[in-house]
Amino acid sequence: MDTDILEIEGLRFAKAVSAEQIDKMTSRLAERINQDYAGREVVFLVVLNGAFMFASDLLKKIEGVHTVCFIKVSTYQGMQSSGEYSEVIGLSENIEGRDVVIIEDIVDSGFTMKEMLNSLKEKNASSIEVCTLVFKPDNFKGDYDVKYKGLNMGAEFIVGYGLDLNQKGRNLKEIYKKI
Ligand code: IMP
Ligand code: MG
Repeated sequence: MDTDILEIEGLRFAKAVSAEQIDKMTSRLAERINQDYAGREVVFLVVLNGAFMFASDLLKKIEGVHTVCFIKVSTYQGMQSSGEYSEVIGLSENIEGRDVVIIEDIVDSGFTMKEMLNSLKEKNASSIEVCTLVFKPDNFKGDYDVKYKGLNMGAEFIVGYGLDLNQKGRNLKEIYKKI
């Protein structure tokens, strides 16, 4: 059953992005990536856990044979960004001299992605771009470019389509925002 209002851990969320809108958005992003990397092999680094559903839908629309790896950064609990140092774990692939696209769920303040980019820089990839499901322009404090942005959203906390509140709500096929 589809509902427009959800309650998770006592907080109320309203549907903000439908499954159809998400599908159109992943098609648009995939089209751009297909054009930009035509004839090249890409290493897609999928940031777990939040990007799992987005990456699955997006990568099915990417043409050609590519390398897909799953990485993790230390996460934070609840609705507050920790601001602590976060480490990239699980990168088994050698990315030296290769074209890398990081697939992330949200670039919010941009701190987590900055840490990730800093730690990947040492590995001498030939290029690194960021592809994020959600970008929050009002919160972003980064000094780097986020090339592929699926959805620009406001500052409200969101759940669904891989995104969670304390691990809850990742299964939802739509995106909900806190009301
Ligand atoms: P940043 O370091 O502030 O950019 O936060 C990035 C990370 O915080 C994301 O990868 C998410 O895991 C988490 N995050 C930030 N905002 C939200 C949200 O609205 N919903 C769920 N997770 C979020
Ligand atoms: Mg994340």
